[in-house]
Amino acid sequence: MATTGSRSSTSSSSPHATEFIQINTIDDAHDAIKSMKIRGAPAIASLAALAFAADLSRALKASADFLASPESVRAYVTPILAHLYTARPTAVNLGAATRRLTAMLDASIAAGKTGEQICADLIAEAHKINDEDKNGGSGTELNLLTVCNTGSLATSGYGTALGLITYLHETGKLGTAYYTQTAPYHQGSRLTALELQTLDIPSVMICDTMVGSLFQHHNIHAVVVGADRVAKNGDTANKIGTYNAAVLAARHNIPFIVVAPISTVDLAVADGSGIPIEHRPPLEACLVRGAVYPPPDGEKSQQAVVMITPPGLKGIYNPSFDVTPAELITAIVTEKGVATRREGEKEFDLSAVV
Ligand code: MRU
Repeated sequence: MATTGSRSSTSSSSPHATEFIQINTIDDAHDAIKSMKIRGAPAIASLAALAFAADLSRALKASADFLASPESVRAYVTPILAHLYTARPTAVNLGAATRRLTAMLDASIAAGKTGEQICADLIAEAHKINDEDKNGGSGTELNLLTVCNTGSLATSGYGTALGLITYLHETGKLGTAYYTQTAPYHQGSRLTALELQTLDIPSVMICDTMVGSLFQHHNIHAVVVGADRVAKNGDTANKIGTYNAAVLAARHNIPFIVVAPISTVDLAVADGSGIPIEHRPPLEACLVRGAVYPPPDGEKSQQAVVMITPPGLKGIYNPSFDVTPAELITAIVTEKGVATRREGEKEFDLSAVV
């Protein structure tokens, strides 16, 4: 969508033809939205905002009479916003845009601005609504934390949690992807690190013990993890350390999102207590796999396995997975939809999604 001078234009597409339609007036915009010449929740809000801005720009240029006082600006603007809002009722964006413009009107009037200044504020706000949609949502860059490895090295395609992170990066909505090393097998520092580096995604590795510190000192918008099995009630088994991150996320009011294909949901298992947890050989927790450092001059570094415990150590606990209870999970994202818990309920009903 684009605006030139005092006009907005929008494109109407079918599989067979793309047509650009000139929008000159508020009624043109209303008609284009109502008759679905333009559709899509964010797009219709953008067009309404741009048509509104174009109308006010024309009025400013022509020194329209209603600019004489703040209250006459209100009298002119309010019915326009109300009219635009009636074009389509369901999607949240159109109402949000008109309410936002009304709030700007109230704020500018309360600030004692002149009619011209109020109009200029409204035009700027309307353009901001369009720009934010163009740039992808609110313009907020999301900082996320993930655990383990969930990209193309763990799935047959784009990935689950890392797929979401990649998508946010590609659409300009990602700030930084933080990821845990994921001891003791180090899927994070070995595999996720490689995937994020290869995809050129801004990322920061943290040790598993640093999640609490990260939440205390950085603005983390959500934790996103994959899943190895999701029970019918939403209890989720994932790589060891996921539960720790979920508890800390709850402490810090950070949304905790599970991203998993429907095939990961096991309706035959009522809750997490029915998920078998694999315990890996104790020796694995004593070893670190890597490459010899520093690499010998001019040579490719050799793979190495290093023991970090005294040889013959006994008493080692090494579950490979843990279960995050449903009540700590904000949403479970699948290709068939997003499951959330009903207000006040501790469990999901995933049979409704599968
Ligand atoms: O290295 P694994 O096979 O033990 O790791 C399992 C996983 O890949 C993860 O737990 C992951 O989060 C599942 S989602 C692809």
